[in-house]
Amino acid sequence: MKISTIILAAGQGTRMVSALPKVLHKLNGRELVRYSIETARSVGSDKPVLIVSPNAELIRATVGEQALYAVQEKQLGTANAVMAAQPLLEGKADLVLVINADMPLLTASTLAALIETQKSNPGPLTMAIIISDNPRGFGRVIRSGDGKVQRIVEEAQATHEQLKIHELNVGAYCFSGAWLWNALKEIKLSPRGEYYLTDIVEIAGKAGESIASITLDDEDEAMGINNRKHLAEAEAVMHRRINEKWMLAGVTMLDPNLVYIEEGVKIGRDTLLMPNTYLRGNVQVGEGCRIGPNTIIENSSIGNNCSLLASVIEGAIVEDGVSMGPFCHLRKGAHLRKGVHMGNFGEVKDSTLGPGTKMGHFSYIGNAEIGENVNIGAGTITCNFDGVHKNPTVIGDDVFIGSDTMLVAPVKIGKGAKTGAGAVVREDVADGDVVVGVPAHSIRKKKQT
Ligand code: UD1
Ligand code: CA
Repeated sequence: MKISTIILAAGQGTRMVSALPKVLHKLNGRELVRYSIETARSVGSDKPVLIVSPNAELIRATVGEQALYAVQEKQLGTANAVMAAQPLLEGKADLVLVINADMPLLTASTLAALIETQKSNPGPLTMAIIISDNPRGFGRVIRSGDGKVQRIVEEAQATHEQLKIHELNVGAYCFSGAWLWNALKEIKLSPRGEYYLTDIVEIAGKAGESIASITLDDEDEAMGINNRKHLAEAEAVMHRRINEKWMLAGVTMLDPNLVYIEEGVKIGRDTLLMPNTYLRGNVQVGEGCRIGPNTIIENSSIGNNCSLLASVIEGAIVEDGVSMGPFCHLRKGAHLRKGVHMGNFGEVKDSTLGPGTKMGHFSYIGNAEIGENVNIGAGTITCNFDGVHKNPTVIGDDVFIGSDTMLVAPVKIGKGAKTGAGAVVREDVADGDVVVGVPAHSIRKKKQT
């Protein structure tokens, strides 16, 4: 059975008061429109058709190949918006889902339920309903004496009595593809000058067709984002959903209100996330870690049993048993091997620190390859940039770098060598040598010949 989805996104979104189209505002780090697209795909829909206004370049540029596009020339209402997809979908889909692009909390299980219900419905459509005391401007569901859904009345047209109805139209439907397009043509202009998609329910009812419905348990799902207050409310709901999932999967949170985890992140069990922890983008965290307070991890992989306190980690690999912080910054290409210890105020970029290496205080390491069990003294700096090029520093195993050493790259420090406090190392140091001073020179006694 072929299932297609129409996502309505041609509205202006004026209530966002923004230069950015509404559906490109972000919820938990991802544009609103992506949620509807992904939810549709996850229930087996073909590539969704996004209904956009004529000047939607930014939406097209953002969504790209993830959707097909149909342009609604003028904003003449939701029925008119659906019609814009007719040339793309007529005769090509058995079932057509219609959802709004501003409802990111709608779940895949709801769309799946719409599809399943419609498959066994002899009539042409299934709609989603919520029961709520908070009508939010939603259309009211009118039932006939025998309890069947008869039509939907928009709030602007509802009578005083109808406004009291608690059964609300979510704005998510599954239609028979064979029926939808002709029925749309029967919709008349509303007193507001728009063609309401909701009028299609009455058209089906009058034709004696069976209208099926599903009722959602979770009111939050139907939350539409019309302004930034709604966006923050949705953010809170999304955030709670994700954090509950992780807590049930064995992750401890001291205060789940203060932990921010994007979709797609992976976290091992018995990891503790302290307040103000942000896990963004493509992040994996192993088991038994202690992250935060005040730690931001982006596009990085963290091993097991790491302790990352008040640090910022971007584009890095951190292996098992690393302890770090407070106030460390790992940048792109930083790779901390097993058991590395980084104390306060360290920065590492495009560098590997070998297993067991320690860098306790105030250091900058860039473009460096550092071996095992190296001690990097307080204030050590790789002077990697000569104004034109980034130059490499190579440090062998078991080296002792004295406090405040400047390693003027390109430079190599041989295995087991030592540098004295304040050394400015401009030339390679041999294995086991000891260098001091500015510029650094060897003080190892030469063997008698
Ligand atoms: C709509 C429903 C209402 C339902 C509510 C749920 C209609 C007439 N009413 O009302 O019953 O309770 O959703 O959220 O359908 N759009 C277009 N082109 C247009 C008009 C709208 O693409 O010409 C898009 C908007 O971008 C939006 C969606 O359709 O994504 C819904 O439009 P909106 O004006 O927000 O409808 P509601 O008043 O919320
Ligand atoms: Ca809306």
